[in-house]
Amino acid sequence: MMSVSDRMISRRALLSAAGLAALLPLGAALAGCSSNDAAPADGGTAASSGSAGSAASAGSAASAASGATASTSNLGRVLVAYYSAQGHTAAVAQTIADNLGADLFEIAPTQPYSDDDLNYGNDESRVSREHEDESLQNVALAQTTPDGFADYDTVFIGYPIWWGVAAWPTNGFASGNDFTGKTVIPFCTSASSGLGQSGANLADLAGSGDWQEGQRFRSSASEDNVTEWLATL
Ligand SMILES: Cc1cc2nc3c(=O)[nH]c(=O)nc-3n(C[C@H](O)[C@H](O)[C@H](O)COP(=O)(O)O)c2cc1C
Repeated sequence: MMSVSDRMISRRALLSAAGLAALLPLGAALAGCSSNDAAPADGGTAASSGSAGSAASAGSAASAASGATASTSNLGRVLVAYYSAQGHTAAVAQTIADNLGADLFEIAPTQPYSDDDLNYGNDESRVSREHEDESLQNVALAQTTPDGFADYDTVFIGYPIWWGVAAWPTNGFASGNDFTGKTVIPFCTSASSGLGQSGANLADLAGSGDWQEGQRFRSSASEDNVTEWLATL
């Protein structure tokens, strides 16, 4: 658990990375969030958006395991589904898939978020308007159900934290699929916030599946951070 001072440092890191003008709207959300991971926030620096999640494309075939360190024996056939606006969650998803020999599925809004869309410092930006009006958070997806979804035993679901919750393009994936008989493992990336209730909220939306607690990673988590976690599963 982060201390208050750690959290303040993390928050400052996010704010400075985002630019001071963009800070205030997130302040309340960040102040209210805790981390379940002692790793320091890095401020989400790599945040050039546009081709988010380009590390993998929807429904792509299994990626080859490279130096896998995690046992997959108890996970069965694994799918790593993720939404990523700015690439950080995509990188973690890619590492998970590489290590488990899993398939990747990108949760892709039909209308991707541009840099301007993601500018939460602007009250009129797309994310700000969607944050203010939950009815706008029902984002259409290019594909809701991955090919062969019924065949997977374990589904990892990755997403960035937005205002303390799972980025809402992830919601349609959770609510639009049948997770009966599957183990579901949420993971997220954030500047400083913890996983919070994000996984539990997605489990509620899904209404099926054996949802695990999941894991939060800092935005620029290293491959070692990810593989060390996988080794505990
Ligand atoms: C609209 C928006 C809201 C965000 N809200 C939070 C937040 O509440 N807490 C936090 O720690 N980081 C927040 N962040 C930072 C992202 O969670 C972080 O940079 C994440 O790693 C981005 O993942 P991605 O590159 O896969 O999109 C926010 C970023 C954006 C664009």
